[in-house]
Amino acid sequence: MIEKEKIEEIKRQTDIVAVISQYIKLRKVGKNYRALCPFHTEKDPSFYVNPDKGIFYCFGCKKGGNAITFLMEYEKLDFPAAVRRLAKNLGIEIDTTKGLKYKEIYEVNELACQFYSLCLTKEIGKKGQHYLNERKIDMTKLKDFRLGYAPGSGGLVTFMRQKGVSIEKLNKAGLISTSTSYRQMNREIFRDRLIFPIYNVSGRVIGFGGRGIDDYIKPKYLNSPETPLFKKGEVLYGLYQSKDNIRTKGEAILVEGYFDLLSLFQKGINNVCAPLGTSLTEKQAVLISRFSNKVNILFDGDLSGIKAALRAIGLLINAQVDVFVTSLPTGSDPDTFINQNGVDKLREVIDGAQDFFHFYKKAVKIDTVEQEVVLIKDLIQIISSIRDGIRYDRYLKYISRVFDIPIDTIMKEMASKKKTSVKSVRDFKITQEEKVMAMILNAREYFSLVKDFLKPEDFNEDGLKRLYNLLLRDKNFDIYDLSEVISETLREKLLSIIMKEEAVPKQAFLEALIRYKSGIEEKRIRSKISEAQVKGDEQARTKYFKQLNALKQKMLKIDLDKVTTDSDL
Ligand code: CTP
Ligand code: MN
Repeated sequence: MIEKEKIEEIKRQTDIVAVISQYIKLRKVGKNYRALCPFHTEKDPSFYVNPDKGIFYCFGCKKGGNAITFLMEYEKLDFPAAVRRLAKNLGIEIDTTKGLKYKEIYEVNELACQFYSLCLTKEIGKKGQHYLNERKIDMTKLKDFRLGYAPGSGGLVTFMRQKGVSIEKLNKAGLISTSTSYRQMNREIFRDRLIFPIYNVSGRVIGFGGRGIDDYIKPKYLNSPETPLFKKGEVLYGLYQSKDNIRTKGEAILVEGYFDLLSLFQKGINNVCAPLGTSLTEKQAVLISRFSNKVNILFDGDLSGIKAALRAIGLLINAQVDVFVTSLPTGSDPDTFINQNGVDKLREVIDGAQDFFHFYKKAVKIDTVEQEVVLIKDLIQIISSIRDGIRYDRYLKYISRVFDIPIDTIMKEMASKKKTSVKSVRDFKITQEEKVMAMILNAREYFSLVKDFLKPEDFNEDGLKRLYNLLLRDKNFDIYDLSEVISETLREKLLSIIMKEEAVPKQAFLEALIRYKSGIEEKRIRSKISEAQVKGDEQARTKYFKQLNALKQKMLKIDLDKVTTDSDL
C-alpha cells in the first residue's frame, strides 16, 4: 500500500501524454491528442488523450482513465505496480511498508505461514512429508509455494503467544474460531492438514488452504474463512508464482485444484493458476485478464469439470480473453494424468486444446431442435461480449457456418439481447444528473459553490450519491483510477462527457446548477400538488403553488447574488 499523499504527488507530476507516447503514437488534434485505440481493433482513431485533465478515453470501446489506469491496462500491472512505475519515471521514492492498511493481519499470516512450513520440516510433520512423497510432490521445485503442515495436536496458538500475537488477531486473520461453545473456544482452524499458503498478486500471504491428510477427515479441503484480506472469489491460487511466466508465455492455464497446480508447476508447466474450490468468478476472470489475453481451461475430465468449464467460458470472454479448453479423459484430472502418462503427454493434450466455440458445441448435449436453439442462443450471448473486432467477426462467421444461420439473423438476435442486457455499455443513455455530475467533476475549482447548493439526496442514482459524498469529503477525489465507489458503466459515462466537454465558465456553471436544483425542488413540490389535488385539499394545493412560485423567484435571486459576490473566484 502506498501513501495517499505520495500517489497524489505522483499523479500531479505525471504527464499523461508522455506516458502514453511511450507505447503508441499520439497525434495532436486541438487541445487533445488522438490515436488508434490500443485496447480494441479499429480503423479510425477514437482514442483521445487530454493532457490538461490527465485522462484518456476511447469513444469506441469506452475504456478510459488516467495514467495509472493506462499502465494497468496496457502493461497488465496492478495499481501499486503502476504507481511505482510512474514514480520511477519521475524519480520519486516510495516506501513500500508504510501505510499498509491491514498490516497486522498480513504479519499474522506471515507468521502462521512460517509456523506451518517449519512444522513440515520437523518430526511433528512426518505425516505431511510422507503424504507429499506419496503424491509425488517435490518440495525442492516448489519452494515459492511455502507448503506447510498443521499438526493434529495444534500448536499455532502457543507459537503465536510466544511471538506476542493476541488471540484477537489470530481470530481476525481467520486462523482460529472463537466459538461460544466452551469446548470449541479458540479452536485452531487447521489440524492435521497439509497447508497451501494463498498469496495475493503482490506475494503476501492472505489466507490458507488445507487438505486433510487422512481421507476420513471432512471436509477434504478447507480454506481460511473470509477476512478483510481474504476473499475467496477474488484470488487465484498460484497466480503470484506463475504471473511472470503467464505474461511471457502469453497464456494462462487454469486448473481446478491445488495438487493439479503443483503437479504441473513442478514439471515445468509453470503458467498455471486455480480458483479456490468455487467456480470461477467474474473478479477472477478479470484478474487473469490482467496478465494474459489467452486462457486455457484444463479442468477435470468429468461432468462437473465440463460444467465448470462451460460456466467459466462466458466470464473469461466477458473479460476479453481468448479462451481455449483442454479435454482430459473421463476420470482423470491434470494431476492424475501427469502421474499416469507423464508431462510430455499432458503437453501434447494441452497443445491440442480447442477454442471455446468448438468445445462448447461438443460439450452441450443436443437431442432436440429446442436444445440446439438454446445452445445457439448461449453462444450468441457469449460472442456478443467480445470487443476485439477481428475475433468477434471470426466467431460470428463460425456460428453462421456451423449452424447454417445467416449472419443478419445472428446480428438481429444480438441486437435484441443488447437492449435487455444491463451490462451493455456500447450505447449508453446519459441522464440529466449524470451530466450535472460530470460538469461538477470537470470544474472542481467551483466546488465550494456546489457544496452549499447540492445535497447527496439531490442525486437519484446510488453511485452518484456515493460519489458526491466522497467529493464533499475531498473535492479532488479521483474517479479515473479503477475506483470501487462507482460502477464501471457510470465511470465510463462520466469520462465520456468529461472528455468531450470543455469546463464550463462560472456563470454558465452556476446557471446549470440552479436549473438542476430548481428542477428537483419543482418536481418535489409538483408531486405534493398532485397529492393535494387527489385528496381534494384546496388549501394545501394553493400553499404548494405559492411555494413553487417562491422557489422560482429565489432561484433567480441566488443566481445573481452568487455571481456578483464571488465573481473573482
Ligand atoms: N475443494 C474444496 N473443498 C472440497 C473439495 C475440493 O475447496 N471439499 C477444492 C480444492 O481447492 C481442490 C479443488 O476444489 O483442490 C478440486 O477438488 P477435487 O477435484 O475434489 O480435488 P483434487 O484436487 O482432485 O484433490 P485430491 O487430488 O487431493 O483428492
Ligand atoms: Mn486429484
